[in-house]
Amino acid sequence: MSITTGKLTFIGFIDIFFCGLMEMIVMLFPVRAFYEGRQSQRHGRVAFITNVLELHPLPEAKSRGELPVLFLESTKSPKEFAEGLVKDVHQYNGFNLILADISSKSMVYLSNRPKGEPAVIQEVSPGLHVLSNAKLDSPWHKVQRLGLNLKDLLGKYGESEIPVKEVLEKLMRDKVKADKSRLPGICSIDWEFNLSSIFVEIDTPLGCYGTRSTAALTIRAGGEVSFYEIYLEKGVWKESTVNYRIPKQN
Ligand SMILES: *[C@@H]1O[C@H](CO)[C@@H](O)[C@H](O)[C@H]1NC(C)=O
Repeated sequence: MSITTGKLTFIGFIDIFFCGLMEMIVMLFPVRAFYEGRQSQRHGRVAFITNVLELHPLPEAKSRGELPVLFLESTKSPKEFAEGLVKDVHQYNGFNLILADISSKSMVYLSNRPKGEPAVIQEVSPGLHVLSNAKLDSPWHKVQRLGLNLKDLLGKYGESEIPVKEVLEKLMRDKVKADKSRLPGICSIDWEFNLSSIFVEIDTPLGCYGTRSTAALTIRAGGEVSFYEIYLEKGVWKESTVNYRIPKQN
């Protein structure tokens, strides 16, 4: 999820599924707001959220999708925002929230799981992290596989420019599933097996379920931002890139 090297200060990969996990679609909004939005977001605020894989979510819970938006609209630091949210986290189903402010080089992880325990607030240390649908850096097949593959690729490119499109194509289009003995065992084995690859594509009786958008967000030390996305629209894969610069703060 994030790396710090000589040239690139931040790389994020975001994967979005559809059906069932409606909240995840909302992730698109904050990311878009990040580059289309107002000044505070242009100064480098980034937020994204994933649901925690669990049984029996509360139907009356508030939508987790509002959390990244609230952060982007606020002027609080990631840590202050996370601390301010702690008293309300039980109103939402299980989530993992990443809040970052590039200008102050701060990134915080907030989660309201495990259930019944105090909310987790953790500074995300510089280095490589992967977040899926369990806590940050959980040893899931797809998490470990993506982490190792990204590390290999970074090693291969060394100090030279990393071609984001290629990285995305190589790392995020990966359909290799987990060994069945290594599934988390939260819901049905068949379903977890189908969800266990980095790129998800499943035929269900209700239609196709799977990855519908993958994005890479890169920010250089000089503040140049590039948001590259490949996404499914009416059954066709399309791509888009948006570039801008985070203004220097006084
Ligand atoms: C898992 O995926 C296969 C292939 O797409 C599909 O036939 C099967 O119904 C899926 N299982 C579940 C539980 O969705």
